[in-house]
Amino acid sequence: MTPKLGIIGGSGLYQIAGLQDQAWVTVETPWGPPSDQVLTGRLNGVEMAFLPRHGRGHVHTPSSLPYRANIAALKALGVTDVLAVSAVGSLREDYAPGDFVLVDQYIDRTFAREKSFFGPGLVAHVSVAHPTCPRLSDAVAEAVQGPKLHRGATYLAMEGPQFSSRAESLLYRGWGADVIGMTGMPEAKLAREAELAYACLAMVTDYDCWHEGHGAVDVAQVIATLTANAEAARDVVRRLSLAPRETCPCGCDRALEYAVMTAPSHRDP
Ligand code: ADE
Repeated sequence: MTPKLGIIGGSGLYQIAGLQDQAWVTVETPWGPPSDQVLTGRLNGVEMAFLPRHGRGHVHTPSSLPYRANIAALKALGVTDVLAVSAVGSLREDYAPGDFVLVDQYIDRTFAREKSFFGPGLVAHVSVAHPTCPRLSDAVAEAVQGPKLHRGATYLAMEGPQFSSRAESLLYRGWGADVIGMTGMPEAKLAREAELAYACLAMVTDYDCWHEGHGAVDVAQVIATLTANAEAARDVVRRLSLAPRETCPCGCDRALEYAVMTAPSHRDP
């Protein structure tokens, strides 16, 4: 199978330059329209579909993002592998602003979002014991050149839109979370339900508000760090290469094999 790469661009990443045969396409899904049109094209021979998570102009809040439509739109376009690029705050001293982080695990503290494609009529429980795909994460790691890269991180997904209080930030550090952001969930869970390989390249923009030596995070700080690093993120996308494959060794592309509970005779047509 020839892979097709989906990129979900976070804050600061609203475009991918240099795509061949590029076109912004409108995609409708059973869950409504995605955040924006999707930019399709080819980069270094890799078929690609780029979706700005917040929409061009940054119009969707973390809580109002159409997470299901975004994943469904990429799936409908034939995407097999999703690289999510996200801005995050650091919850540890050694993850400094400007560093890149490949996320391995999540703690989902979001509560005001639709989190599943399934529901009454078709009940399914996929495993998210390992929410990101090691094969895709390895390929992304190989494509990172320049910024310091940390691997094996745990991402605390908060509801927002306000940043955390200091007590929350300290609590999350105590839980073993390494980075904090507002959009990683339910995106990763939905990608698994859609049997898409998913990796998250997080860009550290700040130390949240726990660090004695740094002031509390604000949007100006986040934007300044993102702007300085956006080109490095685009470089990763340009360098990323995906080998053709039959199946994924981690099984993410077969996540539904043992997940559906509803008897075939009881499923909605
Ligand atoms: N995105 C970037 N920095 C963040 C922070 N400190 N908290 C939540 N989301 C963020």
